Amino acid sequence: MSEAKLFNKIAVITGASRGIGSAIAKAFTDEGAAVALAARSADDLDKLATGLRDKGARAEPFVCDVTNSEHVQQLPGLIEEKLGPIDILVNNAGVAGSHKIVDHPDDLWQLMLDVNLTGVYRVTKAVIPGLIERKRGRVINIASVASKVGLRYMAAYAASKHGVLGFTRVLASEMSRHNITVNAICPGYVDTPMTDFTVAFLVARLGKSEAEARKIIEDTNPQKRLVTPEEVASLAVLLASDDARGISGQAINIDGGAVMF
Ligand SMILES: NC(=O)c1ccc[n+]([C@@H]2O[C@H](COP(=O)([O-])OP(=O)(O)OC[C@H]3O[C@@H](n4cnc5c(N)ncnc54)[C@H](OP(=O)(O)O)[C@@H]3O)[C@@H](O)[C@H]2O)c1
Repeated sequence: MSEAKLFNKIAVITGASRGIGSAIAKAFTDEGAAVALAARSADDLDKLATGLRDKGARAEPFVCDVTNSEHVQQLPGLIEEKLGPIDILVNNAGVAGSHKIVDHPDDLWQLMLDVNLTGVYRVTKAVIPGLIERKRGRVINIASVASKVGLRYMAAYAASKHGVLGFTRVLASEMSRHNITVNAICPGYVDTPMTDFTVAFLVARLGKSEAEARKIIEDTNPQKRLVTPEEVASLAVLLASDDARGISGQAINIDGGAVMF
């Protein structure tokens, strides 16, 4: 039997309470990692941690809002007390929203930038000194195909996710001499509560049935389907593993071939 790819590694995953984050937590524990589950919803985190522990994994919930500097600064110390020093950071917490640029609500702009971009900056700034000290580590940022293309009505989301790629590349350049790799994963539409929300939005906005709205979204993928959270999690496992020690500064799409750069 091959050895677990993340045996004894300690990973923190933001936005772990559902969707892609919870799938990454499951995949990481399947590969032997201990996981720190961070998000705002304490009940969901507790439920996930209990389920993972029932399967023999080490998993701890941490209530942490990535827009709250105090929460974020305390996070590495709290994780170290419960699990040990962090090896892997997955910046996954995110929110989506859309509006045309004319009359764009300023609070929507601020929220997207604060959670999706400044949140990544905040958490990375808190965690990276420990990785540098230990001379090893992995940072994986969950970006989006909206990090690379300008989709209509997605100004704030796309600006935040383009920013994540810029941040990923600079961090990768600064971290290479510390044996730390930094990469981004850029999914197309994934089958998560975030996409359910987009479906509901299309139903309300265009008067489509739920099935029709879902098909519009599936058709953005040349494979005519939603990406699964588990596919994103599998790539995160690879990037977190020793197998990917030579991969850094990359932004890897999972979108069925919709975007090819
Ligand atoms: N779904 C897609 O189609 C898709 C495509 C490309 C990229 N992505 C990206 O993938 C990531 C995960 O998305 P998802 O689809 O899994 O979304 P989701 O189902 O809505 O889950 C989002 C996660 O982020 C957490 N979160 C939101 N605001 C937060 C905050 N202020 N502080 C801490 N955690 C926060 C949520 O937890 P709490 O509410 O408990 O805090 C939740 O765990 C996001 O960065 C998203 O932009 C998603």
